[in-house]
Amino acid sequence: MDLTLVYRSFVLHVAEQPWVKGLILKRGQRLYRRYVAGETLEEALQAAQALEDQGVHAILDLLGEMVRSEEEARAFQGEILALVQALEQKPWPRYVSLKLTQLGLDLSEGLALELLRGILNEARAQGVFVRIDMEDSPRVEATLRIYEGLRQEGFENLGLVLQSYLYRTEKDLDRLLPYRPNLRLVKGAYREPKEVAFQDKRLIDAEYLHLMKRMLREGLYVAIATHDPRIIGEAKRYTEAMGIPKDRFEFQLLYGVRPLEQRRLAQEGYTVRAYVPYGRFWYPYLSRRIAERPENLLLVMRSLLGG
Ligand code: FDA
Repeated sequence: MDLTLVYRSFVLHVAEQPWVKGLILKRGQRLYRRYVAGETLEEALQAAQALEDQGVHAILDLLGEMVRSEEEARAFQGEILALVQALEQKPWPRYVSLKLTQLGLDLSEGLALELLRGILNEARAQGVFVRIDMEDSPRVEATLRIYEGLRQEGFENLGLVLQSYLYRTEKDLDRLLPYRPNLRLVKGAYREPKEVAFQDKRLIDAEYLHLMKRMLREGLYVAIATHDPRIIGEAKRYTEAMGIPKDRFEFQLLYGVRPLEQRRLAQEGYTVRAYVPYGRFWYPYLSRRIAERPENLLLVMRSLLGG
């Protein structure tokens, strides 16, 4: 296994320990402020406005996942509906991301489907695009089924995410092609076993490039979601060489990560969106960001040692 992935797997495991969680919730404020727009919708809309002022569009994401009761799932639906309604008053492109476990996927697929359908109806009325984030591998199949079901019902304002670290992804892409899906391609952020996912960063990167080019050649609209300078460079080179116009793809990056690059890409005429997470349940999101980057762990350690 590649060392980067050993580190990631270790951090994701340690982050699940209650005492570590307690420490980070108390002392991870610097990281929290870097990666999360705030706890309220108001703060998220302010962060989105600041991005818009710099030519970068926002993907609003109410943090929350793996809910354990129907009541909690319905409460999240209510908050996402409030977000969709708040976007209606904004002059920007309107775009939200959500997770199906936030809408009760682990309790029942039918519940997640029903709650997402409610959100999509409202989003369609307000001109909002909704993307389903992809979670860990045991949830991929149900996520694809829900996506397919809703596309068959006629919802066009719906997108999905595919992860280049999973062996299954190319087959999933074949399966989705008839829907002409709007896809976000990512490397994948979860701790996955070798039975289902590549464990070597070079293979994950190579697969990313392969899938990205295939999606572009198929004429799909692709959200190239990465901070990797090598992949961003290759995406620019490839689309130019193939004559693929800039309105057939976009770059997506996370709020707080490579902000200068976000602005630079926008200035070069590419569509750029930053994923803006907000809300009270920021811990799992933050632990994935720490797992992606050893420097982030050092930041946490320093703040712990700092008294
Ligand atoms: P990689 O990890 O190789 O990093 C390349 C370079 O980017 C690093 O060398 C560093 O310079 C910089 N970088 C990366 N992460 C950083 C960080 N946290 N802080 C600072 N610098 C960093 N995953 C998933 O499983 N399901 C999903 O739905 C999504 N959705 C999603 C949306 C968007 C808009 C983005 C950008 C990413 C996701 N992801 C995701 C996360 C994704 O799978 C992946 O974990 C991260 O993007 C990190 O991988 P990179 O592609 O950036 O490359």
